[in-house]
Amino acid sequence: MKQIQNISECFFYRKNCSGSVGLVPTMGALHKGHFALIQKSLDVCNNTIVSIFVNPKQFGKNEDFDSYPKTIEQDLEQLRLLGVDCVFIPSASEMYSNNHSLYVTEVLLSKWLEGKSRPHFFSGVATVVVKLFNLFHPTHAFFGQKDAQQLFIIKKLICDLNYNIECVSVKTIRNDSGLALSSRNKYLSKTDQQNAAAIYLGLLKVKEALDLKENNVKNLLKIFTAHINQTKKLKIDYLAFSSLKTLNDVGPTIKESVLISTAVYINSVRLIDNIIYTLESPN
Ligand code: PAJ
Repeated sequence: MKQIQNISECFFYRKNCSGSVGLVPTMGALHKGHFALIQKSLDVCNNTIVSIFVNPKQFGKNEDFDSYPKTIEQDLEQLRLLGVDCVFIPSASEMYSNNHSLYVTEVLLSKWLEGKSRPHFFSGVATVVVKLFNLFHPTHAFFGQKDAQQLFIIKKLICDLNYNIECVSVKTIRNDSGLALSSRNKYLSKTDQQNAAAIYLGLLKVKEALDLKENNVKNLLKIFTAHINQTKKLKIDYLAFSSLKTLNDVGPTIKESVLISTAVYINSVRLIDNIIYTLESPN
């Protein structure tokens, strides 16, 4: 496995790739969710490049940039075992010069959900992803459904900025109790990880209610809140029902397929999760 750190090495590596090139952007502290993306790239592409970069531009002032989990030796060992061709691990100064002043900002889909709670987040994500696209010119790029809004925005970015890249999405990988795998789960004790499983189970309760034709958003919110509140340590940041086209709130009743997404605090750790609810269209 080739390991590179510098921008010039990226161009050189890419020039010598033949066939399709899959890019899997990550911030490291790799887990089975990341491995599912990487495995998909290995299955589909002739070359697989994984980037590991904790991108400072997507963290707010009071967020966890400094404490973000780092397990680089384990990550590299796993990537080797999986058979990844190349790993790119740049420093922050390699990616952003001191006078870096250009950002990529999506202005519609980013307004809601995570964008509301974390105003600079998607500009940071889009900027680093565009830089990675420019460094490696991948034919395919792999992103997880776990970060549903991020996935929507990357797809929009590929379309609006005319990248000739196939965006491949991979379903959310969960542990046995349903908790979506996340690098931030490393902040939680075993007991809190068990407590946090209530997030996905709460989403499933909402799905069950929708299956039983409950389509009033206020009632669905009550069902979710009641479930989450059973676990004292959890605090809801938001639960949203969003259009699959615009990510706008769908309003007081659900009449179309929706993205149901949530952010929940456990202690000071903020976890996100989502499901897509598909409503059969009437014939
Ligand atoms: P990170 O949180 O490391 O996630 C990297 C990729 O793994 C993302 O596409 C994310 O959606 C996917 N992923 C994370 N947990 C997953 C799970 N449980 N199941 C399936 N896929 C999962 O997302 C980022 O990093 C950054 O914002 C990044 C895109 C790298 C830009 O800095």
